[in-house]
Amino acid sequence: MTAAPVVLGIETSCDETGVGVVRGSELLADALASSVDEHARFGGVVPEVASRAHLEAMVPTMHRALEQAGLTLADVDAIAVTAGPGLAGALLVGVAAAKAYALSTGKPLYGVNHLSAHVAVDRLVHGDLPQPCVALLVSGGHSSLLLVPDVTGPVTSLGATVDDAAGEAFDKVARVLGLPFPGGPHIDREARRGDGAAIDFPRGVVRDAPYSFTFSGLKTAVARWVEARQRAGEAVPIADVAASFQEAVVDVLTSRAVAACREHGVDTLVIGGGVAANSRLRALAEERCEASGIALRTPPPKLCTDNGAMVAALGALLVEAEAEPSPLDLPADSSMALA
Ligand code: KG4
Ligand code: ZN
Repeated sequence: MTAAPVVLGIETSCDETGVGVVRGSELLADALASSVDEHARFGGVVPEVASRAHLEAMVPTMHRALEQAGLTLADVDAIAVTAGPGLAGALLVGVAAAKAYALSTGKPLYGVNHLSAHVAVDRLVHGDLPQPCVALLVSGGHSSLLLVPDVTGPVTSLGATVDDAAGEAFDKVARVLGLPFPGGPHIDREARRGDGAAIDFPRGVVRDAPYSFTFSGLKTAVARWVEARQRAGEAVPIADVAASFQEAVVDVLTSRAVAACREHGVDTLVIGGGVAANSRLRALAEERCEASGIALRTPPPKLCTDNGAMVAALGALLVEAEAEPSPLDLPADSSMALA
């Protein structure tokens, strides 16, 4: 048997410049540079700012990753890169860098799907993924339920958000409550002091799409509720609003994920994306999966958010599966399809 492949993964689809290195299923390095602070005053990621930040951070982050791994580029067997979906300009920086590294080292290039990479990263923590599995990916940019027969192949979208992403809803509601960007961690913290049943916020349903999500009605309901208190000159119970809003989001995310597993006869659920750091989402998912006999796999928060290790993890699986490398004219595809 040949040794496990050393794969370098590059991630630049949003506001994190990530370079990870793995040897098969072993994590060797995970270097990250984030432009999140530069977006804070705008209340959301500004694509142009993100692209410029990637351009500045790319090479230093690569050097840090190789140093962490104790390797040089000559030790790397393949280079994987997020080819989509994501912000077009941001993706271009990573794809162009990956091509340059592949060309200069003579190593194969693998363009990968960012969403599949969020699923593949779990292998680095919990070992090989049982397949098929269902994945719930929830972040500032995506909210998707996926059916994953094999993470190196096409995956099927069972449902996605029709408006705001789950993380976006957290960020917008945090703004309404006067909490800093990105708002998810702040809502999570405030909610611990509050009562999730204090206010009965709506659970949005998408007609004829049982596994899709809608959060814009919820976001508006929270804003109206807060405005009404403010107009009446009453104090806003921030902890209760945060907890009740959070409960509405995690209730729909977990109930639909579990229902998707049951309908498709799948007994493994993987949760990823920045919102997977949410303490209530983790607790409720644990509870509901256990009640339904589903094994829940949630990587630690650092590997749930965008990072290079997840791209390297998927790259290693592709090398092991002897998949065809990508051509050097590989495009960046901001709206990359799943299947
Ligand atoms: O995966 P990620 O780092 O990248 C983007 O999609 O940008 O996810 C960031 C998102 C933000 O919307 C942030 O508010 C949310 O994840 N987030 C959380 C928590 N930690 C981060 N949402 C809820 N609870 C948290 N503890
Ligand atoms: Zn992501």
